[in-house]
Amino acid sequence: MSEKTVLAVSGKGGVGKSTITALTVRILSERKSGSILAVDANPDSNLPELLGIQVQKTVGDVTEEMKRDIERGKIPPTITKKDLLEYQVIKVLRETPNFDLLVMGRGEGEGCYCMVNKLLTDIIDTLSKNYDITVMDEDAGLEHLSRRTDRDVDIMMIVTDPSSMGFRTARKIKEVAEEVHLQFRKTYLIGNRFPPEKEFMVREQARRIGVEFGGVVPLDEKVFEFNLEGKPITQLPSNSPAFGAVEEILKRIGLLPA
Ligand SMILES: Nc1ncnc2c1ncn2[C@@H]1O[C@H](COP(=O)(O)OP(=O)(O)OP(=O)(O)O)[C@@H](O)[C@H]1O
Ligand SMILES: [Mg+2]
Repeated sequence: MSEKTVLAVSGKGGVGKSTITALTVRILSERKSGSILAVDANPDSNLPELLGIQVQKTVGDVTEEMKRDIERGKIPPTITKKDLLEYQVIKVLRETPNFDLLVMGRGEGEGCYCMVNKLLTDIIDTLSKNYDITVMDEDAGLEHLSRRTDRDVDIMMIVTDPSSMGFRTARKIKEVAEEVHLQFRKTYLIGNRFPPEKEFMVREQARRIGVEFGGVVPLDEKVFEFNLEGKPITQLPSNSPAFGAVEEILKRIGLLPA
């Protein structure tokens, strides 16, 4: 793939964003679709666990350390934002043979998450240029939109479960993105834990909301078994229904050859 793509996975809490992100990272890396950066943008991070990777430090942690270092006069106050950014990334970026992983985490105390958010935007901006595909597991809700951390997103995947609340959040995400003038190249609605025969509901809602239909992922017993047993998604059998469904979605949105 020559063009660089930033893919973000958003939606209501608990709809399956992290599961779909982890499967996407796994499938794209197995298919050798180019270099991949996975970003966990959740303050309560769990993408590393799903990807079977242990991460010692988050951007939030090093931001805290850095602030303390500045207070103690260990870092000159003249240091540029770009230098700070590089410092964060070098300390935190986890490299693996198949993909790299960046975990945002959160800072301690008031206002720190805001700082992490700001850094996230800058980091994605800078770092994603080095990868063919960046896949971001977004925080539940809408803050990533209103804070414009999604400034550089090309493809927005909105995940919903079979609930009116899930669809409502999906609509809200589309509306808020428009309000804050975020322009994604494509926005897709994905139904997770949908029986295949209910696919039409997701198609219908996508049409009403004004986004494209991305596909449906069925309820997959292996996925929740793995979750309960703490086994990473990277070990999920490739013949399991969720794996095949996410593969189909990646073909539909043009990240895998059809
Ligand atoms: N297709 C599926 N089949 C079975 N279980 C699933 C499926 N998708 C997700 N789950 C399970 O649903 C739960 C929530 O999924 P996940 O953590 O991916 O959601 P999320 O949207 O990232 O949640 P949060 O908003 O808390 O970050 C997990 O226990 C996960 O294993
Ligand atoms: Mg999650």
